[in-house]
Amino acid sequence: MTANNLEHVAIIMDGNGRWAQKRGLPRLAGHEKGAETLQEVVKAAVDLGVRYLTVYAFSTENWNRDKEEVSGLMKLLRKYMNSEFKPMQEEGVRILFMGERDMLDADIVEQMAKIERDSKANDKFTLCIALSYGSRQEIVSAVKKIALLAKKEDINIKDIDARMVADMLYTRSIPDPDIVIRTSGEKRISNYLLWQIAYSELFFTPTLWPDFGREELEQIISEFKQRERRYGKN
Ligand code: FPP
Repeated sequence: MTANNLEHVAIIMDGNGRWAQKRGLPRLAGHEKGAETLQEVVKAAVDLGVRYLTVYAFSTENWNRDKEEVSGLMKLLRKYMNSEFKPMQEEGVRILFMGERDMLDADIVEQMAKIERDSKANDKFTLCIALSYGSRQEIVSAVKKIALLAKKEDINIKDIDARMVADMLYTRSIPDPDIVIRTSGEKRISNYLLWQIAYSELFFTPTLWPDFGREELEQIISEFKQRERRYGKN
């Protein structure tokens, strides 16, 4: 059996709150440490030959969190966009965002567009950040786009296929994830990339996101390479 080819890793970065709580710190301290982990994991993924990394930074459901936590996360995001994305871009990382932009503040949306524009030509590695993202909403919006095309008679109903649906998603330009990792011991998908992970290999680790790192990513990748992927065949 030849080892599986690996292009795309998707991560649900869970457990920041519990990491902070265990130390008697405010939840935001867990998110700050989580942001440091993300930087380390991006470097590790580049070194390990991964081409695409998609991370769940903020879900559409996360808007329902405590006001203080939401504004703390937005502040962290602004800081991260100002300090961390620039060096990543300079190292050849393309940065993409996916999610409902109209929920976000205008300055954040502007900055996101600028980062995407400035890193557009980078082709070594793509970091895709799911922000204000929900997979069902993404699929609903794809359905609406297709319905509109059909209504205008730009397409025939019989031509609607999986390829066309995939092309209407935020992830249209990137391959489906080979691996999905969720940290913190929770075994759920939580409205993340529901369409795209049809044949992904799932990994659940009890490690809280701030404690996750290069070594564990390496272990997961090496287990992935040994797994048999059948895509429904025998
Ligand atoms: C889940 O942990 C994590 C989040 C909702 C936020 C993830 C954000 C980061 C890792 C910050 C870095 C990202 C950027 C781009 C600045 P949780 O709060 O649900 O933890 P809990 O389940 O232990 O409460």
